[in-house]
Amino acid sequence: MVHFCFSSSSSMIMIVGLLVVLAHLKGSSSTHLSTDFYDKSCPTVFSIVKSVVKSAVMEEKRMGASLLRLHFHDCFVQGCDASILLDDTPTFKGEKTAGGNNNSVRGYEVIDHIKSKVEAVCPGIVSCADIVTIAARDSVVFLGGPNWKVTVGRRDSKTASLEAANSGVLPGPDSNLSTLIQKFQDQGLSPTDLVALSGTHTIGKARCVVFRERIYNDTIIDASFAKKRQRRCPRNSGLGDDNFAPLDNKTPKIFDTAYFKNLIAKKGLLHSDQVLYDGGSTDSLVELYSKSPESFNKDLVVAMIKMGDISPLTGSNGEIRKNCRKPN
Ligand code: HEM
Ligand SMILES: *[C@@H]1O[C@H](CO)[C@@H](O)[C@H](O)[C@H]1NC(C)=O
Ligand SMILES: *[C@@H]1O[C@H](CO)[C@@H](O)[C@H](O)[C@H]1NC(C)=O
Ligand SMILES: *[C@@H]1O[C@H](CO)[C@@H](O)[C@H](O)[C@H]1NC(C)=O
Repeated sequence: MVHFCFSSSSSMIMIVGLLVVLAHLKGSSSTHLSTDFYDKSCPTVFSIVKSVVKSAVMEEKRMGASLLRLHFHDCFVQGCDASILLDDTPTFKGEKTAGGNNNSVRGYEVIDHIKSKVEAVCPGIVSCADIVTIAARDSVVFLGGPNWKVTVGRRDSKTASLEAANSGVLPGPDSNLSTLIQKFQDQGLSPTDLVALSGTHTIGKARCVVFRERIYNDTIIDASFAKKRQRRCPRNSGLGDDNFAPLDNKTPKIFDTAYFKNLIAKKGLLHSDQVLYDGGSTDSLVELYSKSPESFNKDLVVAMIKMGDISPLTGSNGEIRKNCRKPN
């Protein structure tokens, strides 16, 4: 009896140990990504992505913001696997019409353009998921943000899920701080990552429909800022829903730390921006980043690499799509 108990508890320990090892292997799947993955197979990929992103951003600054957001919305839904790029077909509904994406996410044509140039020199080698990741980094750099080495080696999904994209994994603009922290934590991202990544709202635009509640009903808002934004965003829903305002009230085309200064002045455009500075646990980070571009840049780079590491397909999982819009 004693012997039985002993062997049962030691095999229990072994099972628990095995589970810990398995969990660790699963969690560290991102170690398959590396900065030198294409060094032999497609060394020119980085310069191709850079040149196409550069011309797209020179043509329209906002495209840099759009490419960055494309990467975020790819990674938060079943990992950074280019699932967001799959077009709907009569028999398939992908992520493009999901709540946060429809009529909102842009940059798909730029990714197509990059992909066709890359396929011309290294056919079947570079994933769409890696192209999106590199393009996001280059966008940040061209608009004045920090630079870093992108880890690559992701593969593309063979499918996508509208249900997954609509399941609430993508945070909405009226989220409170605890919801934001939770949704980032669900992806393995810390509150520091949340604040640093939200700082990318230093570039780009949002539509009236996502900030209407904030400018008419929020209490934590500068009154003159609210008035100014109300001019092009009427109270009645349906009117002017697609009218744009810059996410950064000060320098919307420059990747800087003005976003955080806006929050301190109660001039965040989205409710989900302002909750980062509203007497809660993230106030001190907002204050730090508002004063120290070095701290912001350092934490942003860490967070961008972590976000790019969310559940990648590696090894023989997934595929290298020929056309980013459809499975092979
Ligand atoms: C913290 C939770 C977040 C919420 C609630 C949120 C919400 C939004 C919303 C509602 C818009 C405007 C969309 C529209 O009106 O069509 C937007 C734009 C944008 N978001 Fe976020 N976002 C979040 C985090 C992030 C992250 C993590 C990134 C990237 C790392 C990001 C990058 C951007 C960029 C660059 C734009 C401007 C896009 C453009 O002009 O095309 N956001 N976001
Ligand atoms: C997506 O947006 C278009 C307008 O751009 C609209 O006609 C369509 O109903 C929307 N689809 C969904 C699922 O919301
Ligand atoms: C935050 O929002 C969630 C979802 O809407 C809600 O359940 C929760 O009570 C809110 N938390 C706080 C602290 O307001
Ligand atoms: C603001 O709150 C009022 C009162 O609850 C509500 O009637 C209105 O629909 C809300 N939204 C806007 C944009 O005014």
